Amino acid sequence: MTHTSVAIIGAGPAGLTLAHLLHRQGVESVVFESRSRREVEETVRAGVLEQGTMRLMRETGIGERMDREADIDDAIDISINGRRTRIDLLGLTGHHMAVYPQHEYLRDFIAQRIEDGGELLFDTTVDEVTGYDGDEVTITYTAENGMQETITADYIVAGDGSSSPHRAPILELEGSERTKFEYPYAWFGILVNAPQTQKELIYATHPEGFALISTRSRSVQRYYLQCNPNDQVEDWSDERIWGQLHARVDGEGLTVSEGEIFDRSVLRFRSAVTDPMQRGRLFLAGDAAHTVPPTGAKGLNLAVADVSVLAPGLVRAIKTGNDDLLRNYSALAVPRVWRAQHFSYWMSAMLHSVPEQGHFQHRRRLAELEAMLATEAGRRYQAQQYVGFDLPTFDL
Ligand code: PHB
Repeated sequence: MTHTSVAIIGAGPAGLTLAHLLHRQGVESVVFESRSRREVEETVRAGVLEQGTMRLMRETGIGERMDREADIDDAIDISINGRRTRIDLLGLTGHHMAVYPQHEYLRDFIAQRIEDGGELLFDTTVDEVTGYDGDEVTITYTAENGMQETITADYIVAGDGSSSPHRAPILELEGSERTKFEYPYAWFGILVNAPQTQKELIYATHPEGFALISTRSRSVQRYYLQCNPNDQVEDWSDERIWGQLHARVDGEGLTVSEGEIFDRSVLRFRSAVTDPMQRGRLFLAGDAAHTVPPTGAKGLNLAVADVSVLAPGLVRAIKTGNDDLLRNYSALAVPRVWRAQHFSYWMSAMLHSVPEQGHFQHRRRLAELEAMLATEAGRRYQAQQYVGFDLPTFDL
């Protein structure tokens, strides 16, 4: 039987960022991923990096391709019925943001992990985790070749997404809770072979609903339309998609660029927060602990924030035996999760139309949006939340 310092379940933003941060401090880990490398590297997800995430990539030697290939923007636009207001992120906060799709982020971390000689096991399913209440964790897993194997670890971190089975033992603890919220709307997302509609993102609201103009490259665009949570991909013909994008976004000389649609999906809007995020030697990070709706694209950035606390906590505990920081992981991570929930909810609520809420709520919602846009203080608040707050740092 072999042993590692930290076993990490999931090669997503939480798991791979954690493995990288640990490696830089000389702490060894094994990453288990049930999907293939190809699936991880190709799954379409959101794509905004907060300034802190960009800085972490640069400072840990992994930001070179991001700096070269990402769409780095100084601003976003918010559009009401085709009239756009610019939020000058750089002027208001001193920071940029990057449109860099999650799978590109993961590709960089996978490449670095392999270059560093770190263990990263694809097509490998974790079957059982025991011992987290004691002195050592035991992990039973089925390897790529179908053989069942066992490994022990000092700590285990579950970064295996919103349906993680490793949340259950934490929710058995007295006083633990998982708070959930469902939204009355969803997004229909498409990838399109088309030139950029404009370089910077447009968040648009219109009586027909919300739309988002984002980008993947000069020739591939990412567009989203508010839809019904029960909609199926088949409910949206090309004609309906383009009709709705033009109706919701076009104006002041701007027209949404059209092209061949090569990917279509419906994204559910959910919020969930698990508190605490730990039990004994078991820790949750990223979506395994919490889910945010996609507005504002905080999901990846929150996973990075989690492991910015967890990595130094683990390093300290493993190297010096001092587990103060590790024991405070939830207390340090959960407040940021709630702030991100608030921001994602607030932006979603201001921009999506919910006809069932009636005319009063419709007008009140637009007044809230206009009041925010009308003052520099309002735009700065929006901009600060959007580019994100600095990641926590700790002396080791
Ligand atoms: C995306 O490009 O996928 C994206 C951008 C901004 C968001 C959400 C998603 O708020």
